Amino acid sequence: MKVFIETFGCQVNEYDSERILYYLEKEGYKETKIIEKSDIIILNTCTIRENANNKLYGHIGNLKKLKEKTPGLLICIGGCTAQSLKEKLIYDFPIIDIVFGTHNISELPELIKRKNLEKKSICSVPKEGFDYDLDKFIRTSSFRASIPVTIGCNNFCSYCIVPYVRGKEISIEPAKIVRSIKKLIADGVIEITLLGQNVNSYGQDLNSSIDFAGLLDEVSDITGLRRLKFMTSHPKDFSPKIINTIKNKKNIGNHIHLPIQSGSNKILKVMNRKYSREDYLKTINLIRKEIPDCSITTDIIVGFPGESKEDFQETIDIIKKIRFNRAFTFIYSPRNGTKASMLKDSTPQYIKKKFFSELLETQNKISAETNKEFIDKKFEVVVECKSTKKASFLRGRLANNTLVNFNGPDLLYGKIVTVKIIGSMNFFLLGEIVK
Ligand code: 5AD
Ligand code: SF4
Repeated sequence: MKVFIETFGCQVNEYDSERILYYLEKEGYKETKIIEKSDIIILNTCTIRENANNKLYGHIGNLKKLKEKTPGLLICIGGCTAQSLKEKLIYDFPIIDIVFGTHNISELPELIKRKNLEKKSICSVPKEGFDYDLDKFIRTSSFRASIPVTIGCNNFCSYCIVPYVRGKEISIEPAKIVRSIKKLIADGVIEITLLGQNVNSYGQDLNSSIDFAGLLDEVSDITGLRRLKFMTSHPKDFSPKIINTIKNKKNIGNHIHLPIQSGSNKILKVMNRKYSREDYLKTINLIRKEIPDCSITTDIIVGFPGESKEDFQETIDIIKKIRFNRAFTFIYSPRNGTKASMLKDSTPQYIKKKFFSELLETQNKISAETNKEFIDKKFEVVVECKSTKKASFLRGRLANNTLVNFNGPDLLYGKIVTVKIIGSMNFFLLGEIVK
């Protein structure tokens, strides 16, 4: 029996797909990358913005023909859209066999058995629960792995659906994290990413004094761990202690993803972000003082309800001041059930699109300029995969997370090489191997 899994959205979903594969392999299923050859199709969905939902609906619609000509094919929808829409998905798309949520991945084999017996579609989406077991996932890469350190989110930023679909924040005990990472390293992994919606609040719910800086410290001491990354950080919890730990530990990547969302205090307040532009700038200044070569990336939302031209210009102003290496930019998308979705929003979409283009143009210029600064310098690079830019080229990442493309043989996958940067574009660098 074969399973085809398609993952949408963030790294947490990617990790969850590795968990789904674990539970299905245990039942005898093998993964296939060819959808037509599968007996089960799993779509692990994202609902962060409405366009993620729309993409999914198109996708499910396209599966209708395959379902008709493949007797016994099961279509299962999991992830955040499933958690949010539940039975409505089956109502809208009767070809769906199983809808399961974000809290009950381990129940999937059971649901498949039930479906095969009962024949009618099943929706099993518990409101809460915790079925994470760090030993139970099938790694898709031989040399790197992601490990969740917190699940869920307590922040309730007013635009965000994540706390509703992922539940309240739960930290995983440090001993479990360390044990799991040691096992992965013994298995050949050299790079670990610690995952959480807000890794900086790690430990607040645990019966111990450990915080995220303490966890980073402990994990970075594990022998054989060449590169340690983490995401995502929340500016309100990003402490000087964390900056110190990154600075002092050689194997922690000099990259911080610190979503700013807006440069306007008025908008930050309505977004419920719990920091001001001044607080944010203070954190950036401290990072730059302590770790001068640290790359800083961010997320920005434009078109939030009530965002005026002046508010937007404050965002432009702050990105010019900070000069992020890269920014992921989004037009605000109202999500059902969130506080922001109830706010009056009188800005026409065409104005929001204009804001968005201006933001993109401004940031692209900055990214191009910051990337140019790497030219002629040499960096250690983890070789990740084939480059999409040119045949015979490989793609890797600097410790500061910047992508680099360079010529080299496939046998370097998962190895660390020294690369000299010889060119740059907006979002990646060109290099040549020197060692
Ligand atoms: N609309 C637009 N962007 C959003 N994000 C989260 N929720 C929304 C929304 N409703 C963005 C934020 C967050 C990133 C992962 O997605 O910038 O940091
Ligand atoms: Fe959403 Fe805010 Fe939590 Fe991030 S911190 S997942 S933006 S609620």
